[in-house]
Amino acid sequence: MCGIIGYLGYREAYPILINGLKKLEYRGYDSSGIAIFYENECSLYKTKGRVNELEKKISSYKIKIKGTTGIGHTRWATHGIPDDLNAHPHVSNSNELIIIHNGIIENYYAIKIILLKNGFTFKSKTDTEVLVNFIEYIKKENKFSLEEAVRVSLNEIVGAYSIAIVEKTRPETIIIAKLGSPLALGINKKEFFISSDPIPFINYTNNALYLKDGEMAILRKGEELDLRKITNNHKLSPIIKKLKINLKKIEKGKYKYFMLKEIYEQPKTILDTLRGRLLISKGIICIDGIEFSKDIFINAKCITIIACGTSWHASLIGEYLLEEFIRIPVEVEYASEFRYRHPIIKKKDVVIVISQSGETADTLAALKLAKKKGAFVFGICNVVGSSIARNVDAGVYTHAGPEIGVASTKAFTAQITILILLALKIGKHKSTINDSRYSSLCKELGTIPEKINYILKIYDYIKKISKIYYNFNNFIYLGRGINFPVALEGALKLKEISYIHAEGYPAAEMKHGPIALIDENIPVVIIATKKGCYDKIIGNIQEIKARKGKIIAIVNEGDIQVSMMADHVIKIPDISEELSPLVTVIPLQLLAYQIACIRGKNVDQPRNLAKSVTVE
Ligand code: F6R
Repeated sequence: MCGIIGYLGYREAYPILINGLKKLEYRGYDSSGIAIFYENECSLYKTKGRVNELEKKISSYKIKIKGTTGIGHTRWATHGIPDDLNAHPHVSNSNELIIIHNGIIENYYAIKIILLKNGFTFKSKTDTEVLVNFIEYIKKENKFSLEEAVRVSLNEIVGAYSIAIVEKTRPETIIIAKLGSPLALGINKKEFFISSDPIPFINYTNNALYLKDGEMAILRKGEELDLRKITNNHKLSPIIKKLKINLKKIEKGKYKYFMLKEIYEQPKTILDTLRGRLLISKGIICIDGIEFSKDIFINAKCITIIACGTSWHASLIGEYLLEEFIRIPVEVEYASEFRYRHPIIKKKDVVIVISQSGETADTLAALKLAKKKGAFVFGICNVVGSSIARNVDAGVYTHAGPEIGVASTKAFTAQITILILLALKIGKHKSTINDSRYSSLCKELGTIPEKINYILKIYDYIKKISKIYYNFNNFIYLGRGINFPVALEGALKLKEISYIHAEGYPAAEMKHGPIALIDENIPVVIIATKKGCYDKIIGNIQEIKARKGKIIAIVNEGDIQVSMMADHVIKIPDISEELSPLVTVIPLQLLAYQIACIRGKNVDQPRNLAKSVTVE
């Protein structure tokens, strides 16, 4: 996870690297560093903390960093604590080679032992310092050029990487390589931009190449791109794409944090997800990826949905929807578990992978495993052109736009929207949903944006509730049926941005253990909308009240029974059960956001997290 950046051309590299790193902080922000090359010398600065700490440190030296070749890194620690020593770039023992790396070198320890035996020493605890010294070792032992040493070394590496490496005495060349971790290259006449994603260079060029796994490129100042296969050094023809990215979409505007902006964007992002895909008046759902796959879905004996985190919660909602509307058994798997437990996947089974970033390492590996076993893999992704999107057999983009806040919000509701469209479309094709139910749900889907707008208007009330509850140390979230995953998601949002311990449960599970926790110090957030098991939920609320638990209930407008029992109620518009997660989650996102703000947390960059988890 970590973001990497690089520049080779005729402009001063420093501002490009620093500004680029700021845009990559969603990938990690516990330390950062840059190396800039000028007249066979390297200026290297690194520090613990965010990129603006690095900027402050450099400006305190009151020097002008010159150089038109440079590399930079923002880190999310894997090997070694976040500190100045473990921050990248890392330098080889001879001080000749300088590297940045995103990923994990799994066999680093075995290589380190060999290097130690050969007299190498290490300043940091990182796998990256092992890699740069391994390249140096291979280079010197074999009298290889850097290009050949990188290639030969990488063939010995087990793990994942995107790297950029420079030889101090040859600053007119940068070598980059990729396996598992993302790497984009921006290409202009006479200049190259290296980055974990294209946002840092889109202002300079929209000509981009996404390196594929197992590829390396030799970038030489003023020369054509030299792309090669790492295994056999075969020359490859680069496929350069024209990117279309609207930078306005990645500015905070009037909002203090991206997360709030993204919560508020949801009426629009859901419309964007539906746009051109759902013709409400005629009840027609038309999406190429689904159209192409509908017979494969219908003939499937079972469907497995694989994802991580918030996308895994959306997958659980997908399980309810698909089983309800297409009557095929659905299993939901954590990608990290699926890939390591000898899963039973047969030829022509359907596997759905869901990922906002499209780069989550575990999900990508699970996808590849499912494909290897012969499954038909369908993807639901937000980031266009991402690794997952490029590797599936068919799929649908969510079109939620760039999600910058680390805590996922608008991507979650966009994923649910796609799952609803998928379940309705296949259900209609298979005749497992009747026509009137199908048409009424299509119509209702069109009303979701205005219902979310209505909920966003009660933000002031949620602010009041947050002031009452922000100081509690533990929360429980409850829901039933299709709203049980929403309870999990509400709890995840609270814990990841406010660092309050929170757990989600199906409401009826309370009495099988968690109820022992209930006393006046535990607020319980409960989704108690009229549909689903309303009467049963009333019973669950009584059990909690009898033990002095505090209740914050999400209820429908006009609710009387729950409102009489709860300490606080948040009223939302009435909606069919199957579509309800799209609205019940909104107050939970706002509540988590507001509590984190009152506790003074950095909502967009919570500690220990990163937006895109490209390591196992
Ligand atoms: C939580 C969150 C994470 C991600 C998870 C998967 O708010 O954002 O739990 O959902 O890391 O990421 P994607 O969807 O990019 O595969």
